[in-house]
Amino acid sequence: MALRNIREIGEECLRCVCKEVTEINPRLLELIEDLKDTMYEADGVGLAAPQVGVRKRVAVVDVGEGPVVLINPEVVETEGEQTGNEGCLSVPGKCGIVTRPMKVKVKTRNLDFEWEEIEGEGLFARAMLHEMDHLDGILYVDKVEGEVQDIEAED
Ligand code: NI
Repeated sequence: MALRNIREIGEECLRCVCKEVTEINPRLLELIEDLKDTMYEADGVGLAAPQVGVRKRVAVVDVGEGPVVLINPEVVETEGEQTGNEGCLSVPGKCGIVTRPMKVKVKTRNLDFEWEEIEGEGLFARAMLHEMDHLDGILYVDKVEGEVQDIEAED
């Protein structure tokens, strides 16, 4: 298990347009494993490569139904709308209201570098779209309605 440093808002790597992945190789597989480890350790539901300083179009998402890997993902279609609270491991201690589609169909490369489609709804759709934004240097704070809030301490 290898954890990587999660970069925080203000760092340049979070604002870049990431590069397409051109092949599945050991280095990429290691990155994907590290993204999962780092996401789980931080109790996140998603993590994108630029959040650990790697400018590649790769992200992982797990909303409690097992990990999903996104490689060169693209939105195929969306449906409906949901408005709700969102946070980001790169913006620690904060959250804010963001409106996104309720459902999304995403086209992504899989670990065999073949295209496949993933459909998501609710939190899963929100998480995939949030991570895909990271690949274009977009943070949820850019889309927030009203103010970014402090998360109240739970302990
Ligand atoms: Ni994020």
